[in-house]
Amino acid sequence: MNAFEQAREWIHAAGKVAVLTGAGISAESGIPTFRGPGGLWRERRPEDLATPQAFARDPDLVWQWYDWRRSVVASAEPNAGHRALAEFEQRKNVALTLVTQNVDGLHRRAGSHSILEIHGSIWTLRCTACGREWRDESVPLALPPLCICNAGLGSGQVRPGVVWFGEGLPADVWPSAENAAKTCDVFLVVGTSAVVYPAAGLIPIAKHAGARVVEVNVEATPMSARVDGVLQGRSAEILPELLR
Ligand code: OAD
Repeated sequence: MNAFEQAREWIHAAGKVAVLTGAGISAESGIPTFRGPGGLWRERRPEDLATPQAFARDPDLVWQWYDWRRSVVASAEPNAGHRALAEFEQRKNVALTLVTQNVDGLHRRAGSHSILEIHGSIWTLRCTACGREWRDESVPLALPPLCICNAGLGSGQVRPGVVWFGEGLPADVWPSAENAAKTCDVFLVVGTSAVVYPAAGLIPIAKHAGARVVEVNVEATPMSARVDGVLQGRSAEILPELLR
């Protein structure tokens, strides 16, 4: 049996499947990844755009970058990889937990319902003064966005509802992600370079808890040698076949 057939067998025998997705699953929707060829971090520094310090220093620059990313995502469509996961969620005999590092919202647009967005969402805005969070899908945004709490006062700042480097993960979703990794029969890792923690830490957590871990990626990652199955290729091609 080859690695693909083996992975398919594990998945179809499983009662609980957890999936961790990263930027690679949205690559075929035309959304740039972070570290690959054409990746966002190849030409820009995360410390200039994706840290609380960067936002404190130059909120306009940070907002312009996020507004540009929102426009890229808004003109993209979910691909066959996203759709395969959404269809798999509908299966009666298997419980699927979808954990994503992506902030693009494409899993939801593909029809997935229960999604743990551990790095937040590019469509969420959060007021740093009153803590209110809301969705705003307008593209382009009127910059800088304002919260109702400071309308007219101009004090509190509104920031993207995403996780930046140096910040903790949302307390309402991270424990569920860890729990899914600890209790699944199969842990599927799709399109992530597996270098950003704590997200990447879900892979050894699942492995130590006894799950079969299967990686889908166009190239090897630091986790490839530690997983049970490596399926090399594009997620939009592999996932529909694997989950069908
Ligand atoms: P990366 O850009 O680090 O990694 C993308 C991965 O997807 C790479 O391993 C590619 O080989 C793989 N890939 C590319 N195209 C693919 C395809 N068509 N099918 C399958 N795999 C493909 O993105 P992430 O791992 O998601 O965090 O990055 C993790 C975090 O770092 C992000 O959530 C973001 C970033 O900085 C924050 O902003 C906090």
